Amino acid sequence: MILEPNKREQVISMPVVLISTVSKEGIRNIAPYANVMPILRPWDLIAIASWIKRDTLDNIRETKEFVINVPSAEFVEEVMICSKNYAKEVDEFEEAKLKEKASKKVKVPSIDGCIAWMECILDKEIIEEGKYSIIIGKVVHLEVVDQYFKTGDMDFERAKPLSMMCGDEGMYYTVPKGTGDYRKYAEMFTGNK
Ligand SMILES: Cc1cc2nc3c(=O)[nH]c(=O)nc-3n(C[C@H](O)[C@H](O)[C@H](O)COP(=O)(O)O)c2cc1C
Repeated sequence: MILEPNKREQVISMPVVLISTVSKEGIRNIAPYANVMPILRPWDLIAIASWIKRDTLDNIRETKEFVINVPSAEFVEEVMICSKNYAKEVDEFEEAKLKEKASKKVKVPSIDGCIAWMECILDKEIIEEGKYSIIIGKVVHLEVVDQYFKTGDMDFERAKPLSMMCGDEGMYYTVPKGTGDYRKYAEMFTGNK
């Protein structure tokens, strides 16, 4: 079958992150974002796609800073609370009863209890006038919870980083599950290339 444009987002799994920002007046904001893409490896740059009418976007433009917090599956309720379109004056840490974790390199607070925190500064903005914007952030500090990285790699089946699949009228929240395959990066290279 052929999927029409308004159903096309149903075919790939998307990560769910919570982006924390602060307005120039000092109001703390949190919003879930699924349109998030690292720009290759090593992970220095990350892109997010944002509709224009977002306090998150205004705040990033105002302060040039944001934190991409990676929540676990236990955060679905808080994700939904932060997805509501509150007035700009509303402190969304308070609304969602989320606690701050001090960030190291940016003034914007991180969210306590998440699995990983990417502190970013605005690197570039690609604007589609009146519609959407692609924000590219430079990751200046990335911290993770030790207990999920004991072997050096994330134990994702224990950490349960939140992801989602879009449906017709809602979102199915998901978590990654290994297929049992682990393949070395080196397999991708032939000879000395
Ligand atoms: C799981 C999930 C993922 C979302 N992903 C995005 C996204 O990638 N880009 C976007 O502009 N809005 C996205 N939204 C909608 C915003 O989170 C929502 O409009 C929120 O109220 C924006 O808050 P703000 O105005 O405080 O920035 C998503 C919502 C949910 C629940």
